Amino acid sequence: MSGLFLSFEGIDGAGKSTHIEALAAALRARGRTVVLTREPGGTPLAEQLRALALNESMDALTEALLMFAARRDHLQQVIEPALARGDAVLCDRFTDATFAYQGAGRGFDTQVLQTLEDWVQTVPALPPPRLRQPDVTVWFDLPPAVAAQRLAGARVPDKFESQPQAFFERVAAGYAARAQADPGRFLRVEAGQPRAAVWQALQTGLQARGVL
Ligand code: TYD
Repeated sequence: MSGLFLSFEGIDGAGKSTHIEALAAALRARGRTVVLTREPGGTPLAEQLRALALNESMDALTEALLMFAARRDHLQQVIEPALARGDAVLCDRFTDATFAYQGAGRGFDTQVLQTLEDWVQTVPALPPPRLRQPDVTVWFDLPPAVAAQRLAGARVPDKFESQPQAFFERVAAGYAARAQADPGRFLRVEAGQPRAAVWQALQTGLQARGVL
């Protein structure tokens, strides 16, 4: 079996976590070995970088560098070896989150992010442009006002979750721009539907792409 790389994106509160678990179970039932992981994080070092990035205040470049440093370690230690073994890697957030949160949300220079993306995700063994990207990115698209209602009182918010709704409006626009730039990779799921309908849409979309 050849490796499969799926990432899951959306603003905080979009409800991706339960569906990632369900999808992992569905893929395992089909005989795939699944590596369930997340960004920032996924290795001991990257989890330490996550704790810093999500809890300390810092300028946007520092934040972007931490995200990409965590990503580099994660790619080298976990993602690339898993794909080489032929595993399915299910990653809760990847680089689109950096473009959406640091780029669109915090207003940081997208060209710098693109340079970092090239540095961090270039895999010489891949065919040109030799850039490691998910095979499919599932984008849980939810209006920020609905996400805010869902998150209210749910738990102690981290640095990003406590941002005002205007921040999430920008993040949502950032995801939309990334999806528009790479429609073949993005699978948009309407995340405002009841949970069972979201799961159905996710399955249908992945079946259409030959993943399920
Ligand atoms: P999230 O994935 O929502 O995990 P949890 O369900 O445990 O809250 O949290 C990760 C946070 O990190 C989220 O607010 C988005 C942010 N983030 C960035 O700002 N940039 C990035 O590159 C990544 C991967 C995440």
